[in-house]
Formats: sequence, C-alpha cells, structure tokens
Amino acid sequence: MQSIAILCSGGDVSSMNAAIKHFVEYSFENSLTPYFVYDGYEGLIDNNIKKASYSDVSGIINRGGTMLRSSRSSRFMKYSYRIIAVDNLKKLGIDMLIILGGDGSFRGMHKLSKEFDIKVCGVPSTIDNDIALSDYSLGVDTSLNVIKNAIDSIRDTASSFKRAFVIETMGRDCGFLALVSSLTSGAEMLLIPEVEYDLDKYKHRFKQQVSNGRNYFIAVVSEGIKDDAQSISKWFEEEIGIESRATILGHIQRGSNPSVYDRLMAYKFINHAVDALLDNKKSSVVCHSDSNFKLENIDDVVGTKKELDCSLLKLAKSML
Ligand code: F6P
Repeated sequence: MQSIAILCSGGDVSSMNAAIKHFVEYSFENSLTPYFVYDGYEGLIDNNIKKASYSDVSGIINRGGTMLRSSRSSRFMKYSYRIIAVDNLKKLGIDMLIILGGDGSFRGMHKLSKEFDIKVCGVPSTIDNDIALSDYSLGVDTSLNVIKNAIDSIRDTASSFKRAFVIETMGRDCGFLALVSSLTSGAEMLLIPEVEYDLDKYKHRFKQQVSNGRNYFIAVVSEGIKDDAQSISKWFEEEIGIESRATILGHIQRGSNPSVYDRLMAYKFINHAVDALLDNKKSSVVCHSDSNFKLENIDDVVGTKKELDCSLLKLAKSML
C-alpha cells in the first residue's frame, strides 16, 4: 500500500480540520495509508509523524485551527534540516506529501520539490488570500465573515455616538481582506498597501459630510499600510474634528467555526491534491480560478506576484 502524509504550515485557517478529515477519508478510499505530520515543517524535522485513522478525525469538522498544529519553521529554510525531514518521510515509506499553507510554506515546499525525489502538492490555505494563480485560499470566507460580524458590532456602537472607527484587518502585505470587508460593510474609507493614498484627499469631503450631519465614519485599513490604525484615528480627531477609536481585529480573524463554503472547498481541494499525487504530479499547487480547479506548477506559483482583483478595486473606488 502507498503512503501519503499531510501537514499544516504557517498561519492556521478555519477549515484546515475539514481538509484533514477528508484527507483521511479520501486516502482510505484510494487504498492509501494516511499519515499526519504534527507541528508543520518542525514536526517533519523532529519526526513527529503518525499513522492516521478514522477515529482521529471524528468530531473535528466544526473546529477552527488545526488538530495537527502548525509552525513557522526557520530551521526548514536550511538544507541540512530539509535532508533530515525527507529522511524521516522516506523511513516510513512516504513519498507523497500534501502541504496546507500560504506563501512562506510554499517557498519551503518549492525547495523540497527541487532538491528531493518526493511528490508534493500544495493547497492554498491563508486568510491573506495572496497565493498567485489562485483566486481563493482556504479560510478566507470564514475570516471575512468574522470581520463582517466584528464591523457590524462596531457599527452598532459607532451609530450610538458621534465617532470615527478605524478598523485594522490582517493580510500582511495584501489588502484583500480589507478590500472585501470595506465593500461588504459599507465603509467610508479603505486604505490598503497596494494603493497609494493621500489623507488630504479625504479631508474636504469628510468635513463637508460632518457639517451635513454625518455622525460616524467606518474606516477599514489593512495591516501593511504606511500608517497604523492609531495614527489614522488621530488624523480623524485632528483633521476632521470627530472623536475617534481604533480597533485592531488581530487573531480573531484566524479563528471561528468554519463556514459552509470553506468546508466544501476543503473537501474539493483535498480531492484534487490526492488525485494529483496519484497521477504522479511531482510539484503542483491546487489553484482555484474562474470557478475551476487547476493544477499549477510550484515554480509559477512562487514566482508570480498576486494582484488584487481589478473589478473589486473598481467597486471600492469611492473609498480609496
Ligand atoms: O498569514 C496569516 C497572518 O494572519 C497574516 O495576516 C499576519 O500578518 C500573520 O499571519 C500573523 O502571524 P502570527 O500569527 O505569526 O503573528
């Protein structure tokens, strides 16, 4: 019987557990022996690899995070540790590996696929949604819903006062979460790393709106912009003359009960990943674009910069 392993690397996302559950089911369906690698690439180096069974994955589909745990491994960036990691897999007869992660994890996977005779397949899993050649990464829908609920709650209190609320979303250097959240929450201002901004541009309009009776503002700003949420909040107080508060949503954006969409996508991504490995694809990433799944080569995925969707940017024009 052939053996296959799965690991989660980098920032966890909601629905990794759904993917892990289906990995076990679909491996057995294909007469494969499934293995879990715990703690991401760290566990690969430390030989924290265990045979998986159905009972391991019962009752996990509704849980955020990952039962396999994750890590950001600096050791794995060194060739000497990657030799140990691959040796651990080889000793167990595993020559197929599925990696759930984001761009940092895929750079690790890229090295692995170049240096060793092991079949690897990536499943984009990052709330940042910054994997090139894939419109969607697992966890994004759940994260957007967490942000939507948070901004809806903030709007309740904002509308009870005369205040501006500046809400910072995650994304590292990608403004996708902020872009979609500003649209779906009806914000007045959107600041993202991909679009240069000049705060002076908003000044006249916002002051006018206040004198016309506007009581509150919602500004969505992404992690990675040149200012931080606090300084944008200060700008509202000093330049617009309205009391202001900043909220940094932080890691709540990575948690929560996975959405229906993410659970289904997790199942589909896993099927494509296992099929690709069984089909002898050595180094591919399962991408989802224009509503279709496609296998892309890891070289192209790590070598391409993801651009924000122009049609979404167009919709957000009045906030930018
Ligand atoms: O990559 C996902 C992400 O949540 C980014 O949006 C954020 O910049 C980063 O991870 C935070 O990383 P950590 O959990 O290591 O603080």
